[in-house]
Amino acid sequence: MKVTVVGSGNVGATVANVLATKGFASEVVLIDIKEGLSEGKAMDIMQTSHMLNFDTTVIGVTNDYAATAGSQVVVVTSGIPRKPGMTREQLIGTNAKIVKSVVDQILAHSPEAILIIVSNPMDAMTYLTLKDTKLPRNRIIGQGGMLDSSRFRYYLAEALKEAGYPATPTDIDGMVVGGHADKTMVPLVSLATYRGIPVTQFLSEEAIQKAVEATKVGGATCTKLLGTSAWYAPGAAAAALVEAIALDAKKLIPCCVYLDGEYGEKDLCIGVPVILGKNGIEKIVEVEFSEAEKAKFAESVAAAREVNSKISEALQ
Ligand code: 2OP
Repeated sequence: MKVTVVGSGNVGATVANVLATKGFASEVVLIDIKEGLSEGKAMDIMQTSHMLNFDTTVIGVTNDYAATAGSQVVVVTSGIPRKPGMTREQLIGTNAKIVKSVVDQILAHSPEAILIIVSNPMDAMTYLTLKDTKLPRNRIIGQGGMLDSSRFRYYLAEALKEAGYPATPTDIDGMVVGGHADKTMVPLVSLATYRGIPVTQFLSEEAIQKAVEATKVGGATCTKLLGTSAWYAPGAAAAALVEAIALDAKKLIPCCVYLDGEYGEKDLCIGVPVILGKNGIEKIVEVEFSEAEKAKFAESVAAAREVNSKISEALQ
Protein backbone atom coordinates (compact mmCIF):
# COMPACT_ATOMS: atom_id res chain seq x y z
CA MET A 1 0.00 0.00 0.00
CA LYS A 2 1.14 3.52 -0.84
CA VAL A 3 0.34 6.25 1.66
CA THR A 4 0.98 9.97 1.27
CA VAL A 5 1.36 12.34 4.19
CA VAL A 6 0.91 15.97 3.24
CA GLY A 7 2.80 18.31 5.55
CA SER A 8 6.18 17.29 6.93
CA GLY A 9 5.99 19.24 10.17
CA ASN A 10 5.93 17.54 13.54
CA VAL A 11 2.59 15.78 13.09
CA GLY A 12 3.15 14.70 9.47
CA ALA A 13 6.64 13.39 10.16
CA THR A 14 5.35 11.47 13.18
CA VAL A 15 2.63 9.87 11.03
CA ALA A 16 5.30 8.80 8.51
CA ASN A 17 7.56 7.53 11.27
CA VAL A 18 4.83 5.46 12.95
CA LEU A 19 3.69 4.08 9.59
CA ALA A 20 7.24 3.08 8.74
CA THR A 21 7.80 1.29 12.04
CA LYS A 22 4.47 -0.54 11.72
CA GLY A 23 5.62 -1.87 8.38
CA PHE A 24 2.27 -2.53 6.64
CA ALA A 25 2.76 0.19 3.98
CA SER A 26 5.19 -0.51 1.16
CA GLU A 27 5.74 3.18 0.47
CA VAL A 28 5.13 6.41 2.38
CA VAL A 29 5.53 9.74 0.58
CA LEU A 30 6.07 12.85 2.66
CA ILE A 31 5.32 16.09 0.80
CA ASP A 32 5.65 19.71 1.90
CA ILE A 33 6.07 23.14 0.29
CA LYS A 34 9.16 23.88 2.38
CA GLU A 35 12.24 23.08 0.28
CA GLY A 36 14.16 20.07 1.58
CA LEU A 37 12.05 19.50 4.71
CA SER A 38 10.36 16.31 3.50
CA GLU A 39 13.54 14.98 1.95
CA GLY A 40 15.39 15.51 5.24
CA LYS A 41 12.70 13.95 7.42
CA ALA A 42 12.31 10.97 5.06
CA MET A 43 16.07 10.41 5.04
CA ASP A 44 16.21 10.61 8.83
CA ILE A 45 13.36 8.07 9.16
CA MET A 46 14.94 5.74 6.59
CA GLN A 47 18.19 5.80 8.51
CA THR A 48 16.36 4.12 11.42
CA SER A 49 15.12 1.23 9.26
CA HIS A 50 17.99 -1.12 10.04
CA MET A 51 17.75 -0.49 13.79
CA LEU A 52 13.96 -0.60 13.93
CA ASN A 53 13.74 -3.43 11.43
CA PHE A 54 11.22 -2.15 8.88
CA ASP A 55 11.06 -2.44 5.09
CA THR A 56 8.73 0.45 4.31
CA THR A 57 10.28 2.96 1.91
CA VAL A 58 9.78 6.56 3.00
CA ILE A 59 10.49 9.23 0.41
CA GLY A 60 10.29 12.99 0.77
CA VAL A 61 9.44 15.50 -1.97
CA THR A 62 9.05 19.27 -2.21
CA ASN A 63 5.69 20.16 -3.74
CA ASP A 64 5.96 17.38 -6.35
CA TYR A 65 2.44 15.96 -6.32
CA ALA A 66 3.26 13.62 -9.22
CA ALA A 67 5.31 11.58 -6.71
CA THR A 68 2.14 10.97 -4.67
CA ALA A 69 0.29 9.37 -7.61
CA GLY A 70 -1.59 6.17 -6.88
CA SER A 71 -1.78 6.63 -3.11
CA GLN A 72 -4.53 4.58 -1.50
CA VAL A 73 -4.66 6.67 1.66
CA VAL A 74 -3.62 10.31 2.10
CA VAL A 75 -3.20 12.03 5.45
CA VAL A 76 -3.54 15.82 5.31
CA THR A 77 -1.67 17.60 8.10
CA SER A 78 -0.91 20.83 6.20
CA GLY A 79 -1.39 24.27 7.65
CA ILE A 80 -0.25 26.12 10.72
CA PRO A 81 -0.47 24.68 14.25
CA ARG A 82 -1.84 26.71 17.14
CA LYS A 83 0.32 28.66 19.54
CA PRO A 84 -0.27 28.81 23.31
CA GLY A 85 -3.54 30.61 24.07
CA MET A 86 -5.05 30.03 20.62
CA THR A 87 -8.07 27.87 19.86
CA ARG A 88 -8.07 25.47 16.91
CA GLU A 89 -10.95 27.48 15.41
CA GLN A 90 -8.72 30.55 15.09
CA LEU A 91 -6.65 28.72 12.45
CA ILE A 92 -9.47 28.61 9.91
CA GLY A 93 -8.43 31.81 8.10
CA THR A 94 -5.05 30.35 7.15
CA ASN A 95 -5.74 26.64 6.97
CA ALA A 96 -8.95 26.54 4.89
CA LYS A 97 -7.20 27.75 1.72
CA ILE A 98 -4.23 25.45 2.31
CA VAL A 99 -6.37 22.35 2.87
CA LYS A 100 -8.53 23.06 -0.19
CA SER A 101 -5.50 23.51 -2.43
CA VAL A 102 -3.75 20.40 -1.07
CA VAL A 103 -6.81 18.17 -1.45
CA ASP A 104 -7.39 19.33 -5.04
CA GLN A 105 -3.77 18.54 -5.96
CA ILE A 106 -3.85 15.17 -4.21
CA LEU A 107 -7.00 14.03 -5.98
CA ALA A 108 -5.60 15.08 -9.35
CA HIS A 109 -2.95 12.36 -8.86
CA SER A 110 -4.75 9.85 -6.61
CA PRO A 111 -8.43 10.05 -7.59
CA GLU A 112 -9.31 6.89 -5.63
CA ALA A 113 -7.61 7.88 -2.37
CA ILE A 114 -9.24 7.81 1.04
CA LEU A 115 -8.48 11.12 2.77
CA ILE A 116 -7.72 11.51 6.46
CA ILE A 117 -7.95 15.13 7.55
CA VAL A 118 -5.85 16.18 10.52
CA SER A 119 -5.41 19.95 9.87
CA ASN A 120 -7.26 22.19 12.32
CA PRO A 121 -9.96 23.22 12.88
CA MET A 122 -10.34 19.58 11.91
CA ASP A 123 -14.14 19.17 11.88
CA ALA A 124 -14.54 22.22 9.62
CA MET A 125 -11.63 21.14 7.40
CA THR A 126 -13.27 17.71 6.98
CA TYR A 127 -16.57 19.38 6.05
CA LEU A 128 -14.78 21.72 3.62
CA THR A 129 -13.06 18.72 1.98
CA LEU A 130 -16.34 16.86 1.62
CA LYS A 131 -18.12 19.86 0.08
CA ASP A 132 -15.20 20.80 -2.15
CA THR A 133 -14.50 17.33 -3.52
CA LYS A 134 -18.08 15.97 -3.52
CA LEU A 135 -16.55 12.55 -2.80
CA PRO A 136 -18.68 9.91 -1.08
CA ARG A 137 -18.54 10.42 2.67
CA ASN A 138 -16.91 7.05 3.37
CA ARG A 139 -13.69 8.43 1.82
CA ILE A 140 -13.40 11.61 3.92
CA ILE A 141 -12.42 10.96 7.53
CA GLY A 142 -11.43 13.51 10.14
CA GLN A 143 -8.99 12.51 12.87
CA GLY A 144 -9.92 13.83 16.30
CA GLY A 145 -11.80 11.20 18.27
CA MET A 146 -8.97 8.68 18.18
CA LEU A 147 -6.62 11.23 19.74
CA ASP A 148 -9.13 12.62 22.23
CA SER A 149 -10.14 9.10 23.31
CA SER A 150 -6.51 8.21 23.85
CA ARG A 151 -6.08 11.28 26.05
CA PHE A 152 -9.29 10.36 27.91
CA ARG A 153 -7.87 6.89 28.61
CA TYR A 154 -4.62 8.44 29.82
CA TYR A 155 -6.36 10.83 32.23
CA LEU A 156 -8.71 8.13 33.51
CA ALA A 157 -5.72 5.85 34.15
CA GLU A 158 -4.02 8.69 36.03
CA ALA A 159 -7.18 9.21 38.12
CA LEU A 160 -7.38 5.49 38.87
CA LYS A 161 -3.74 5.47 39.96
CA GLU A 162 -4.46 8.37 42.30
CA ALA A 163 -7.40 6.38 43.66
CA GLY A 164 -5.12 3.42 44.39
CA TYR A 165 -5.68 1.24 41.29
CA PRO A 166 -2.57 0.40 39.21
CA ALA A 167 -4.18 1.28 35.86
CA THR A 168 -2.43 2.13 32.60
CA PRO A 169 -4.16 3.60 29.52
CA THR A 170 -4.40 0.15 27.90
CA ASP A 171 -6.56 -1.00 30.84
CA ILE A 172 -9.15 1.63 29.95
CA ASP A 173 -11.83 1.62 27.31
CA GLY A 174 -13.36 4.98 26.61
CA MET A 175 -14.51 7.14 23.76
CA VAL A 176 -14.75 10.86 23.04
CA VAL A 177 -17.30 12.07 20.49
CA GLY A 178 -18.41 15.49 19.23
CA GLY A 179 -16.11 18.14 17.83
CA HIS A 180 -12.33 18.16 18.26
CA ALA A 181 -12.64 21.36 20.26
CA ASP A 182 -11.52 22.29 23.79
CA LYS A 183 -14.88 23.38 25.11
CA THR A 184 -17.25 21.08 23.31
CA MET A 185 -15.73 17.61 22.83
CA VAL A 186 -17.75 14.97 24.69
CA PRO A 187 -15.89 12.31 26.69
CA LEU A 188 -18.47 9.54 27.18
CA VAL A 189 -18.16 8.84 30.90
CA SER A 190 -21.24 6.61 30.89
CA LEU A 191 -19.48 4.13 28.58
CA ALA A 192 -15.93 4.27 30.01
CA THR A 193 -14.62 1.14 31.69
CA TYR A 194 -11.60 -0.15 33.62
CA ARG A 195 -11.12 -3.72 32.34
CA GLY A 196 -14.82 -3.90 31.54
CA ILE A 197 -16.07 -2.40 34.81
CA PRO A 198 -17.58 1.12 34.65
CA VAL A 199 -15.05 3.70 35.90
CA THR A 200 -17.86 5.16 37.99
CA GLN A 201 -17.45 2.17 40.32
CA PHE A 202 -13.88 3.23 41.17
CA LEU A 203 -13.77 7.01 40.87
CA SER A 204 -15.57 9.84 42.62
CA GLU A 205 -17.67 12.24 40.55
CA GLU A 206 -15.02 14.88 41.26
CA ALA A 207 -12.15 12.67 40.00
CA ILE A 208 -14.11 11.81 36.85
CA GLN A 209 -14.89 15.45 36.13
CA LYS A 210 -11.21 16.31 36.58
CA ALA A 211 -10.28 13.64 33.99
CA VAL A 212 -13.00 14.90 31.64
CA GLU A 213 -11.84 18.51 31.84
CA ALA A 214 -8.17 17.50 31.42
CA THR A 215 -9.13 15.50 28.32
CA LYS A 216 -10.97 18.44 26.78
CA VAL A 217 -7.96 20.72 27.12
CA GLY A 218 -5.45 17.92 26.47
CA GLY A 219 -4.20 19.56 23.27
CA ALA A 220 -4.06 23.03 24.81
CA THR A 221 -2.09 21.70 27.80
CA CYS A 222 0.56 20.22 25.50
CA THR A 223 0.58 23.42 23.42
CA LYS A 224 1.25 25.49 26.53
CA LEU A 225 4.14 23.23 27.55
CA LEU A 226 5.63 22.85 24.07
CA GLY A 227 5.04 26.32 22.61
CA THR A 228 3.37 24.63 19.62
CA SER A 229 0.78 21.91 19.28
CA ALA A 230 1.42 18.28 20.16
CA TRP A 231 2.64 15.73 17.63
CA TYR A 232 3.34 12.26 19.06
CA ALA A 233 -0.26 11.47 19.99
CA PRO A 234 -1.87 13.28 17.01
CA GLY A 235 0.57 11.53 14.65
CA ALA A 236 0.00 8.10 16.21
CA ALA A 237 -3.76 8.67 16.06
CA ALA A 238 -3.70 9.42 12.32
CA ALA A 239 -1.42 6.42 11.72
CA ALA A 240 -3.89 4.21 13.64
CA LEU A 241 -6.66 5.26 11.24
CA VAL A 242 -4.42 4.47 8.25
CA GLU A 243 -3.70 1.06 9.77
CA ALA A 244 -7.39 0.23 10.29
CA ILE A 245 -8.03 1.07 6.62
CA ALA A 246 -4.90 -0.64 5.26
CA LEU A 247 -5.52 -3.87 7.16
CA ASP A 248 -9.29 -3.71 6.63
CA ALA A 249 -9.44 -4.09 10.40
CA LYS A 250 -13.09 -2.98 10.71
CA LYS A 251 -12.35 -1.38 14.09
CA LEU A 252 -14.86 0.70 16.04
CA ILE A 253 -13.18 4.11 16.33
CA PRO A 254 -14.61 7.59 16.85
CA CYS A 255 -13.93 9.63 13.71
CA CYS A 256 -15.18 12.88 12.26
CA VAL A 257 -17.63 12.00 9.49
CA TYR A 258 -20.41 13.64 7.50
CA LEU A 259 -23.76 13.01 9.16
CA ASP A 260 -26.86 12.60 7.04
CA GLY A 261 -29.51 11.95 9.65
CA GLU A 262 -27.47 9.82 12.05
CA TYR A 263 -27.66 11.07 15.63
CA GLY A 264 -30.53 13.28 14.41
CA GLU A 265 -28.12 15.59 12.54
CA LYS A 266 -27.54 16.46 8.91
CA ASP A 267 -25.05 18.39 6.85
CA LEU A 268 -22.04 18.62 9.14
CA CYS A 269 -18.94 16.62 9.98
CA ILE A 270 -18.45 15.68 13.62
CA GLY A 271 -16.99 12.86 15.71
CA VAL A 272 -19.10 9.73 16.20
CA PRO A 273 -18.24 6.03 16.47
CA VAL A 274 -17.65 4.40 13.08
CA ILE A 275 -16.36 1.11 11.73
CA LEU A 276 -13.14 1.76 9.84
CA GLY A 277 -12.01 -0.66 7.13
CA LYS A 278 -10.74 -0.84 3.56
CA ASN A 279 -13.49 1.44 2.25
CA GLY A 280 -12.80 4.05 4.91
CA ILE A 281 -16.02 4.60 6.88
CA GLU A 282 -17.73 1.23 6.56
CA LYS A 283 -20.58 2.10 8.90
CA ILE A 284 -21.67 4.86 11.26
CA VAL A 285 -22.56 3.29 14.58
CA GLU A 286 -25.34 4.86 16.63
CA VAL A 287 -24.99 4.23 20.36
CA GLU A 288 -27.07 5.46 23.27
CA PHE A 289 -25.56 8.40 25.16
CA SER A 290 -26.80 9.48 28.61
CA GLU A 291 -29.20 12.46 28.67
CA ALA A 292 -26.38 14.77 29.82
CA GLU A 293 -24.11 13.49 27.03
CA LYS A 294 -26.88 14.01 24.46
CA ALA A 295 -27.17 17.64 25.56
CA LYS A 296 -23.40 18.10 25.35
CA PHE A 297 -23.32 16.48 21.90
CA ALA A 298 -26.02 18.95 20.75
CA GLU A 299 -23.86 21.84 22.02
CA SER A 300 -20.88 20.39 20.17
CA VAL A 301 -22.92 20.17 16.95
CA ALA A 302 -23.99 23.82 17.32
CA ALA A 303 -20.35 24.88 17.83
CA ALA A 304 -19.22 22.90 14.76
CA ARG A 305 -21.97 24.50 12.63
CA GLU A 306 -20.81 27.92 13.79
CA VAL A 307 -17.23 27.20 12.60
CA ASN A 308 -18.54 25.78 9.30
CA SER A 309 -20.40 29.05 8.71
CA LYS A 310 -16.98 30.78 8.51
CA ILE A 311 -15.54 28.52 5.79
CA SER A 312 -16.74 30.57 2.78
CA GLU A 313 -15.28 33.75 4.23
CA ALA A 314 -12.01 31.95 5.03
CA LEU A 315 -11.72 30.83 1.41
CA GLN A 316 -12.06 34.40 0.00
C1 2OP B 1 -4.18 18.29 19.33
O1 2OP B 1 -5.24 18.23 19.95
C2 2OP B 1 -3.02 19.06 17.29
O2 2OP B 1 -5.37 19.23 17.49
C3 2OP B 1 -4.24 18.50 17.85
O3 2OP B 1 -3.09 18.11 19.89
